[in-house]
Amino acid sequence: MHSVDATTESMIRSVLAYAENRLRLDPVPLDQGSRDPAELDAALQGLLGPGPHNPDQVLGVYASVVAPAVISADSPRFLGFIPAAPTKAALLFDMLVSCASIQGISWLEAAGAIHAENQVLRLIADRAGMPAGAGGCFVSGGSAGNLSALVVAREVAKRKAGPAASAGRRWRVAVSEDAHSSITNTLRICEMDPLIVRADGHRLTGLGLRAAIDADGDPASIAAVVATSGTTNAGIIDDLAGVAAVAREHHLWFHVDGAYGGAGLFAPSVRSRYDGIENADSFIVDPHKWLFAPFDCAALLYREPSTARSVHTQDASYLDVIHDTPGEWNPTDYAYHLTRRARGLPLWFSLSVYGTDAYSEAIEAAIGLARQTADEIRSRDNLELIREPELGVVLFRRRGWDSAQYNQWAAQLLTDQIAFIPPSAWEGETVARFAFLHPDTSMDLVIQILDRMN
Ligand SMILES: Cc1ncc(COP(=O)(O)O)c(C=O)c1O
Repeated sequence: MHSVDATTESMIRSVLAYAENRLRLDPVPLDQGSRDPAELDAALQGLLGPGPHNPDQVLGVYASVVAPAVISADSPRFLGFIPAAPTKAALLFDMLVSCASIQGISWLEAAGAIHAENQVLRLIADRAGMPAGAGGCFVSGGSAGNLSALVVAREVAKRKAGPAASAGRRWRVAVSEDAHSSITNTLRICEMDPLIVRADGHRLTGLGLRAAIDADGDPASIAAVVATSGTTNAGIIDDLAGVAAVAREHHLWFHVDGAYGGAGLFAPSVRSRYDGIENADSFIVDPHKWLFAPFDCAALLYREPSTARSVHTQDASYLDVIHDTPGEWNPTDYAYHLTRRARGLPLWFSLSVYGTDAYSEAIEAAIGLARQTADEIRSRDNLELIREPELGVVLFRRRGWDSAQYNQWAAQLLTDQIAFIPPSAWEGETVARFAFLHPDTSMDLVIQILDRMN
């Protein structure tokens, strides 16, 4: 299993040939996702057992059964949820990272990889205007980033309050109803409660936050506020400057969830909407979304990384050695993880190969397409735009349709391999939603999809 024998040689040829073909797909086909588990069971039967199988046979099952039963999130026709669009350079380098088995925990083990990752974190911090001392690490996703950051926020609140005041106290975090579900999960995991702030047209504002705090019976129990720089369902950027000011006034930890929309920092046409983000105590953005990295990759940044370190550093005698040299950067110290893949490296490679201007252009392409789509929707009598798109998400309704009709429309589009565009909901009503991210998604495709609503 570990030597380079005839089987290895044959796998190098066939697996790399498969990977090469996948990389060369242009465009990537959509494929169909959901399958009857019994059908999959039958196709995979007998492979897992005590004995070996010919690798080409196993690869054949993957190619003919497993792969086509996965909808390709990186197809320009994938317009649901939040799509993916990893660059070719990032995909290639991800393979290299896998082959290199880099253990990205500590400087002791992986100084080179961590240094390169940290340069990417610095680049993102600079786009956000965070101070020179800002830093953090790459984690598996926005959920992991939000959890790691809010654990620090809670600890900071406890320390500020002191042991007597914080004993038995249930901490709370101010959020809007449009905050991502991973924030709700985080609060539940950390035994914190949300203080729901009434948003102004689904946008969390400083005024709203101030009103909620003023009306609250126990403001001392509020540890943090979470703003979103690009809500998942509608792409709305909260009033970051206003929220930051109120957070500062009330000594609240200010966390910005930019898992989806944080990439807009690289898009000049919308950059001003992020003003105030420079005040974040913690900020996340998922490069596996709109910074064109492969899964799974989220950047987590702290304004004062030493505070995060004091919360997340794991204490085990066998790990003492990684903390022996002060000043060395250990990614394990900045999130709840220990072992970690150097998942920032594919992004580092890709950014170095293409340059940030190409990233800005690709992000602007989705924003531009959303604006064009909004105009197209406005021009059609049977459609109604729900709100002006701020980033790459467009919400709209087909006048007169009920949820069954939206579902039927979406299912047919997938069956016909035109697009994956599951309906969403807005204020309780089923609606249609485009999530643009892939720079090759075209207006022609949008028109084809809208025509299917006639
Ligand atoms: C705003 C926001 N926050 C958090 C997340 C969770 O990120 P992940 O799926 O990478 O855990 C998402 C995912 O879509 C998101 O859009």
